[in-house]
Amino acid sequence: MAKVHVKLKVNGQAVEGLCEPRMLLVHFLRENLALTGTHIGCETSHCGVCTVDIDGKSVKSCTMLAVQAEGASVTTVEGMANADGTLGALQEGFRQMHGLQCGYCTPGMIMRAHRLLKENPNPTDDEIRMGIAGNLCRCTGYQNIVKSIQHAAAKLRGEEYREAAE
Ligand code: FES
Ligand code: FES
Repeated sequence: MAKVHVKLKVNGQAVEGLCEPRMLLVHFLRENLALTGTHIGCETSHCGVCTVDIDGKSVKSCTMLAVQAEGASVTTVEGMANADGTLGALQEGFRQMHGLQCGYCTPGMIMRAHRLLKENPNPTDDEIRMGIAGNLCRCTGYQNIVKSIQHAAAKLRGEEYREAAE
């Protein structure tokens, strides 16, 4: 099949590549750009492990073709670290609050939480649970994921995280 030229921005950098028109964005990110932080799970838009941020929206990157991302600005989990290479607030939150076990869902959770906190910097636990409803974790029971996102939210607001009584 003839290949198509795709040009977009990923984590602030202009990138381009050739791909078949049927190639999914998640495969383009992983195979053409070697950004393997974005995981592949179901490839049917159920699990959320492939979530990235595209032009200010959370998108499951198995649900769109790479060619549809032409001209878009994409952020992947690799773009979540601070400029000096230290862990970003969400990464630090997941580390501090034990928001992962096997880690397979974590990049998608972080990318979804990134957009959630942009839209709602001070969410309730229920709002976080609703916000990550499209991201499945088979390990944690979600409680620590919610705490991790609250930890990051507090940090981004310049506040100290206080764990709510359970
Ligand atoms: S791999 Fe995209 S939603 Fe599961
Ligand atoms: S930490 Fe294993 S799937 Fe979420």
